[in-house]
Amino acid sequence: KTTPKMRRILGSLIQHIHDFTRENHITVDEWLAGVEFINRIGQISDDKRDEGILVSDVFGLESLVDSLTNQIGGAAGQSTETAIIGPFYRSGSPRYPNGASIIQKDVGGELAWVHGRVTDKQGKPLAGVELEVWHTAPNGLYEQQDPDQPEYNLRGTFTTDENGKYDYICLRPTSYPIPYDGPAGDLLRLMDRHPNRPSHIHWRVTKQGYHSLITQIYDSRDDYVTNDAVFAVKDGLVVEFTDASDEAKKRNVQFELAYDITL
Ligand code: DHB
Ligand code: FE
Repeated sequence: KTTPKMRRILGSLIQHIHDFTRENHITVDEWLAGVEFINRIGQISDDKRDEGILVSDVFGLESLVDSLTNQIGGAAGQSTETAIIGPFYRSGSPRYPNGASIIQKDVGGELAWVHGRVTDKQGKPLAGVELEVWHTAPNGLYEQQDPDQPEYNLRGTFTTDENGKYDYICLRPTSYPIPYDGPAGDLLRLMDRHPNRPSHIHWRVTKQGYHSLITQIYDSRDDYVTNDAVFAVKDGLVVEFTDASDEAKKRNVQFELAYDITL
């Protein structure tokens, strides 16, 4: 649909593409290689693999638009910081009661109990907030990438109780490479860059009447927190998993994460 912004940005895009092409003396062969690259992004993509997002993330673009879209957040009294959604979100994950585990099949790894409270910016607990969480198995694969995992393994939707509380059991996440057997991987190799993301858990937190929060938390023990292949780590999203407390041990987990969210 044509809007004033759409007209403006198309003009700007063409201007920048032309400037880029002139500045770099792009030849016909180089232009054709670029066209083939774009075509390959489409060819390798399907409902389980979004190569467009991967390529854009390797360029740092999703992280940039996240920052431009959500400029506030993080400080005391402000909303929890956002992060990129990434290529592996799926809607419709199973609804679980608080305290349940999102592990449908043993895929190894260390268990963690994650718990906390969702409040508004004034500190008022918010009931009925939906929290969708997802992370990979220790082999680095999300459920839809991995024929050995049942559908929606390591994904779940939880709802805060009347005190704004939620809790669930998951794996302490592990770091892993983004898929690098396609165009995104070619780009990384051309730039001598590694494909690894720090271990993380994704969240999508929604409640009617509030902005929906898309974010990730990063495990501080992971070296890649300072070296994320897709530039998505923010200091305020790096968390400490601790050894299980007595309360956590009742749930037979090794680790625990207390994490409050502000909408
Ligand atoms: C990307 C993001 C992820 O969260 C992930 O697990 C893999 C890749 C990405 O931004 O490309
Ligand atoms: Fe991810």
